[in-house]
Amino acid sequence: MELPQHIAIVMDGNGRWSKARAKPRHFGHKAGLESLKKIIEAAAKRGISYLTVFAFGMENWLRPSAEVNYLMNLFLTALRRDIGRLHENGIRVQFIGDRQQVHADLIQNMQEAESLTRDNSRMTLIVAFNYSGRWDIGQACQLLAEKVAANKLSAADINEECISQHLSTAAWPDPDLFIRTSGEQRLSNFLLWQLSYAELYFTNKHWPEFDEAELDKAIAFYASRERRFGKISEQLLIGAEHA
Ligand code: IPE
Ligand code: MG
Repeated sequence: MELPQHIAIVMDGNGRWSKARAKPRHFGHKAGLESLKKIIEAAAKRGISYLTVFAFGMENWLRPSAEVNYLMNLFLTALRRDIGRLHENGIRVQFIGDRQQVHADLIQNMQEAESLTRDNSRMTLIVAFNYSGRWDIGQACQLLAEKVAANKLSAADINEECISQHLSTAAWPDPDLFIRTSGEQRLSNFLLWQLSYAELYFTNKHWPEFDEAELDKAIAFYASRERRFGKISEQLLIGAEHA
């Protein structure tokens, strides 16, 4: 079975999961964190090389401040408490997103997590925090414009490859499989450029109930797809014969 090298997940539905249980929203966020920990290990165990998760989007600052504060604290606590185990399990942790509005305490823990786990190679976990796909493309444009202004780059040389190399995800291949839980079928400003060729998988399960078996369903869905990258089936068969 063909395994996706890179899986990107929008972990959605924590609030609805809580509501269905007559619990406050933070209950779902806490359960969602437990789900994430299990999925990280499950993905690594299955040989996935890169796992990107949407932990906090730029638009999420618009939520009630009590919920935003809860999420920030949960994130900080999780980083402090769980980074050791991720490190022991060979996970390399990296963050993408705008760090400018993020609390200094959190930034420091994010940097420490990145440097502690830098040399791990079992799986790379990319946490999108204060991330927005449009922001990412915008910051890449700024970097490119600065290089052109400084005569380090000619405008005529700006191509897809060059843009990819200036996105915050430059170091990693694009996701092969995109998963969104809780029935919503939107990208919600996640990895806009990078998801161009990803297979899209949606499930009605809420994130706190997304477990190993659900991950396997998503991976099986991926394996059943024929990725043509603009070509036709017959061309893929010819390619396979010569491979
Ligand atoms: C996703 O669950 C968690 C974060 C955005 C951090 P939601 O909080 O969006 O849950 P719903 O969409 O309200 O059910
Ligand atoms: Mg939601």
